[in-house]
Amino acid sequence: MFDLIIRNANLPDGRQGIDIGLADGKIVAVEKLLQASAGEEIDASGRLVSPPFCDPHFHMDATLSLGLPRMNVSGTLLEGIALWGELRPLLTKDALVERALRYCDLAVSQGLLFIRSHVDTSDPRLVTAEAMLEVRERVAPYITLQLVAFPQDGYYRAPDGAASLERALDMGIDIVGGIPHFERTMDDGRRSLEALCRIAAERGLPVDIHCDESDDPLSRHIETLTAETIRHGLQGRVAGSHLTSMHSMDNYYVSKLIPLMAEAKINVIPNPLINIMLQGRHDTYPKRRGMTRVRELMDAGLNVSFGQDCAMDPWYSMGSGDMLEVGHMAIHVAQMGGIEDKKKIYDALTVNSAKTMGLNGYGLDVGCNADLIVLQASDVVEALRLKPTRLYVIKNGNVISRSAPRIGELFLKGRPTSIDPGLDYVPASG
Ligand code: FE2
Repeated sequence: MFDLIIRNANLPDGRQGIDIGLADGKIVAVEKLLQASAGEEIDASGRLVSPPFCDPHFHMDATLSLGLPRMNVSGTLLEGIALWGELRPLLTKDALVERALRYCDLAVSQGLLFIRSHVDTSDPRLVTAEAMLEVRERVAPYITLQLVAFPQDGYYRAPDGAASLERALDMGIDIVGGIPHFERTMDDGRRSLEALCRIAAERGLPVDIHCDESDDPLSRHIETLTAETIRHGLQGRVAGSHLTSMHSMDNYYVSKLIPLMAEAKINVIPNPLINIMLQGRHDTYPKRRGMTRVRELMDAGLNVSFGQDCAMDPWYSMGSGDMLEVGHMAIHVAQMGGIEDKKKIYDALTVNSAKTMGLNGYGLDVGCNADLIVLQASDVVEALRLKPTRLYVIKNGNVISRSAPRIGELFLKGRPTSIDPGLDYVPASG
């Protein structure tokens, strides 16, 4: 007897007509024509059933603050940072928690159940850390929220940068962050990475650095990050977020850099929506795209996972908690439109991100946690194209969100026809 069976599912790896049995919070059967009964059955009707989406790079403390206290007029990264600096003294714990919980509700409806959020630790009041720690606890039954201590104004550049970061870690923040390209000098950036990796090693924590979010091809802090990762034995536990300067670097230098990154097992986190919006702003024409070298990094065997970064905040006035929107943009900006490319992009929104975040029990194998989503699409390629409705979101074997399918109606030659966009319907030309 199962708690829940999903019948006739298509899986991300291409298997079709699969039944998935869930019991006691685990996946206990993945096979065709499962002979069993359950408390509840869902007929997937040949739709895609996937592990939930993961967002390995987000800013939960800033989300939904768009327009507070004013809009970002230039739309640039630097005005966004300045604007956040204006808002920060006005932040209250209650308002931060309320906005974050509203965002988490949206995330659940989008099948996004694993989020890593940076938390700005620049203000020594640390109201952001206090609020996000409360949110982490309150959403724990349905969202795994990891928190990164992020010295937005610089580890050395801000007066209390170093001390505040350590206090946030003492409070229970999970991961060590940094922003070396924002320190006053290249050398301060290098020293900040030395300090941050040492702190992580001493505390036994992972590292996630906003690294080289710049169009300056000489912003090479990623090189230092690889060296410090190896020095402290942190291979596989360090993430380089953004890495946009790699877009503009000299090709010869990159041919040395990528193997160094592979040796250090750096987890690469591009943020396609934000990178295409914010980079290349000092260019006239042609304008650089400013996203890191996704295809080359994947080809070299690096673990690449995409982040959303922002939703309705000082840096980005859009965003909807939909990781398929992120994948859709990644396909365009990285020019990865082939079928196999798209499968890799989907992996980058799911299994690769789970690896970046070090999640246990994630996936669709027997024995994995019973966390699943049913999408109104037949496969991953269609999902990336349509960004379809998440019909069911299942956590720990329980349905926690249901959405009605999106149905269109065509009127062809007087014949009304319903279209389910998730079933690849092709109207008869008749
Ligand atoms: Fe970020």
